[in-house]
Amino acid sequence: MASIKLLLKHADVKGIETFDVYRAHEGYNSVEKALKNMTPDEIVEEVKTSGLRGRGGAGFPTGLKWSFLAKPEGVPRYLVCNADESEPGTFKDRYLMEFLPHLLLEGLIVSSYALGANTCYIYIRGEYAWIVDILEKAIEEAKANGFLGKDILGSGFDLDIFVQRGAGAYICGEETALLESLEGKRGNPRIKPPFPAVKGVWDCPTVVNNVETLAAVVPIINDGGEAYSKIGAGRSTGTKLISACGNINKPGVYEIDMTISVEEFIFSDEYCGGIPNGKKLKACIPGGSSVPILPANLLLRTAEGNERLMNYESLNEGGFETGTMMGSGGFIVFDEDQCIVRHTMTLARFYNHESCGQCSPCREGTGWLYQILKKIEAGNGDMKDIDLLWDIQRKIDGNTICPLGEAAAWPVAAAIRHFRDEFEWHITHAEEAKVGNYGLGNYAAEALV
Ligand SMILES: Cc1cc2nc3c(=O)[nH]c(=O)nc-3n(C[C@H](O)[C@H](O)[C@H](O)COP(=O)(O)O)c2cc1C
Repeated sequence: MASIKLLLKHADVKGIETFDVYRAHEGYNSVEKALKNMTPDEIVEEVKTSGLRGRGGAGFPTGLKWSFLAKPEGVPRYLVCNADESEPGTFKDRYLMEFLPHLLLEGLIVSSYALGANTCYIYIRGEYAWIVDILEKAIEEAKANGFLGKDILGSGFDLDIFVQRGAGAYICGEETALLESLEGKRGNPRIKPPFPAVKGVWDCPTVVNNVETLAAVVPIINDGGEAYSKIGAGRSTGTKLISACGNINKPGVYEIDMTISVEEFIFSDEYCGGIPNGKKLKACIPGGSSVPILPANLLLRTAEGNERLMNYESLNEGGFETGTMMGSGGFIVFDEDQCIVRHTMTLARFYNHESCGQCSPCREGTGWLYQILKKIEAGNGDMKDIDLLWDIQRKIDGNTICPLGEAAAWPVAAAIRHFRDEFEWHITHAEEAKVGNYGLGNYAAEALV
């Protein structure tokens, strides 16, 4: 199938990170079109028509989110671009910002105009320090060429974009923790409602969107929402960036049409290029570390025997019993040599470390998940520990101030659901586990692909 490139169309052009080269390759056309020929409401309508869903993980319809923005008289509105990108396995926003900074700025200008925002913040994870320089240089260039600042292209629309670095906390990717951090406070999530659309940064109406979401506004305005909605499948319209890593021959960032199958994505040379060293595929986390892991058999085919596709609906087919989620598109592949218990423990350690500690189910629960997984992984577990893990993750799920709780609970639940045998093996083969000989346990060999 011919691949469609909307965001990465010009990614390989030499010098595309500079204003002049970007402008010479259709760059900023959507700003001209929007500011000269469209009203803000018309842009919101185009985005609604496109069917674009937020690319930050939850997949919420972008046009609908924009239409919730409160517009009280005399109160400024803000657009915040979420560039925190801390979800393990996810590095697609980094690619966009590093190589196509003007594409993001273009999306931010059109989106700010649509929302009536004269100030836009890019909140970027602290570790992406060198990308801050790239973005600031691009902002200066855009300003020098009349695309930022006062009276952009003579339209009367003013916009300033500021880049704000985070300090390396995963929780600051959660939109309300991000807003707290942006205001200079500790990044603790806020209780919702009120939602940012009503009370966001500086207590003013705010839209928070992911980098990729905002970049996707550019092709939507250039080609029309209708054209965008025809790409992809079902409610998975447009293209999606996938950052692929783990046991694959060609790790990297790929722009996919969401009609391709998971099998094609992993095994074809156009994408991941298969599993190295002739190993078999054991499992995959397709949407960033928070989404449920799936064993190879359920990854490639749904429980009903349908071919699993790389889109929101197909990945979720079967719910969490036999399916997973698209999430942020951080695609992590495991070959037959990987130990699921060890991997689950590593993730639990991460979530425990990153819990802000504000609410007890998350603060205490993530700590216990990590302690028990560490015990099982080291060969000191008890069969009852598996049930205990199950019980703890259930008590976290749905009982926390923000979804970090679920992000910590779901990987444990899915690992036990699909790889319980492997947990049991660690307990019954304690001596082997202690010397790091993980083996496959009783893991069903026929589930490998
Ligand atoms: C713990 C946690 C971390 C998150 N990290 C990110 C992130 O790094 N980038 C991001 O865009 N969204 C992240 N989100 C989701 C945001 O809260 C929010 O839903 C998103 O920025 C909305 O943008 P979208 O509608 O364009 O997807 C995170 C959520 C949680 C609970």
